[in-house]
Amino acid sequence: MKSTNQHLKPLSLKVNKNLEIGGCDVVELAEKYGTPLYVLDEHTIRSICRDYKEAFKAYDKVNMMYASKALCTMATSKLIASEGFGFDVVSAGEIYTVYKSGADMSKVLFNGNNKSYDELSLAIELGVGRISADNFFELALLNEAAKAQNKTVDILLRITPGIECHTHEYIQTGHLDSKFGFDLTQIDEAVELIKNDYANLNLHGLHAHIGSQIFETSIYGDEIEILVKEIARLNRKYFSETQVAGQAATLAEINIGGGIGVKYTESDCPPSVYDVAEIIIKRLNECIEKYNIEPPALFIEPGRSIISTAGVTLYTVGSSKQVPNGRKYVAVDGGMSDNVRPSMYQAEYTAQVANKPEAENLEKVTIAGRFCESGDILIKDVELPELEEGDILCVYNTGAYNYSMASNYNRVPKPAMVLVNNSKSCIIVNRETLDDLILHDRLN
Ligand code: LLP
Repeated sequence: MKSTNQHLKPLSLKVNKNLEIGGCDVVELAEKYGTPLYVLDEHTIRSICRDYKEAFKAYDKVNMMYASKALCTMATSKLIASEGFGFDVVSAGEIYTVYKSGADMSKVLFNGNNKSYDELSLAIELGVGRISADNFFELALLNEAAKAQNKTVDILLRITPGIECHTHEYIQTGHLDSKFGFDLTQIDEAVELIKNDYANLNLHGLHAHIGSQIFETSIYGDEIEILVKEIARLNRKYFSETQVAGQAATLAEINIGGGIGVKYTESDCPPSVYDVAEIIIKRLNECIEKYNIEPPALFIEPGRSIISTAGVTLYTVGSSKQVPNGRKYVAVDGGMSDNVRPSMYQAEYTAQVANKPEAENLEKVTIAGRFCESGDILIKDVELPELEEGDILCVYNTGAYNYSMASNYNRVPKPAMVLVNNSKSCIIVNRETLDDLILHDRLN
């Protein structure tokens, strides 16, 4: 069955005289809120959350955690929590945002390769449900932070499963030469430390993440096999004797991370969440039998696939330049500070002119950003209708890793974000002002 992440455009998109999203005229949104503008379609977000829940319902011990790093705002956190999701967070900032949105902190997992003592302390204080310990240094730090608050913290061990997925090198994480997690050969030492030396840590299971923007499905089966095999081995070796007071009797949780891809261009073919779920559940059930373990709780942490398709960015077209015998550059009023992905990962995007969506494509242009950097190109060599100053360009699939990676390069304020649904639009992130930019500056 087709899932929401396999669509290039928000599900509520309509083509009238202008484009329409969530029942709102896109050109009117640009007029009302200014550009650049991030627009998020609530219906698309709810729809993919429901795809995930439906796809995984055959395994009853499943827990969905949204990876906040893809986009973390109070309003989106509240919306996603209302679909029953927990959160994967990676910083005090994400913890605080999710907390302030009113989320159930027991459904939050804190993850990352260099969490500070202060961040770990905040997580413990706010009652974050799980902390994924990434390395030996962190185990010691975490035990100290837990002891200082006289608490026991529930943890997972992040492991490097040694799986290479075919995605951009910068967003692969599960291969052996990775900065994340314990190598498989280091797990026993970590477990022994937890059991013998770190009385304030309570180990529940293992966590892995193999990469992002993944199109392969079988790779998740391989990941499951490694996690279950390790859980079974560790349970036999360390957890079969009498239970140590305050510690989990056996390891009973596996967290497989996120990574399912989305469709940025017509040629992208991301997998259906339903197909991925089928592979995961089938392999999990096979492994439960093969390694003879109790069915573990399964945690999944999708980020991009939850939020990307719902988002578009609106830009206003400004200057253009025809290079004699070369490219035609058309510049818009945003670029690498609101979407760094093209310059950072050579990411490709698809665009449509919001005020003339059905006009014929007449020329090949390169959409340039407004930043002082030659690499600030949003879309290279794209066929579009003739663009004029004042046209509104709608770039699709910008919900994930756009606002969350935005900067103030060139001292440009970050755009506003609006959520649209049922013909209503509502600001969920204000546009930054010039005063916001100098808020933290001091004249000696
Ligand atoms: N869990 C863990 C432990 C992760 O490290 C990540 C992403 C996720 C879940 C969510 O993965 P997703 O479902 O979003 O693929 N900035 C890059 C992506 C970096 C992803 C880092 N980790 C980009 O713009 O492509």
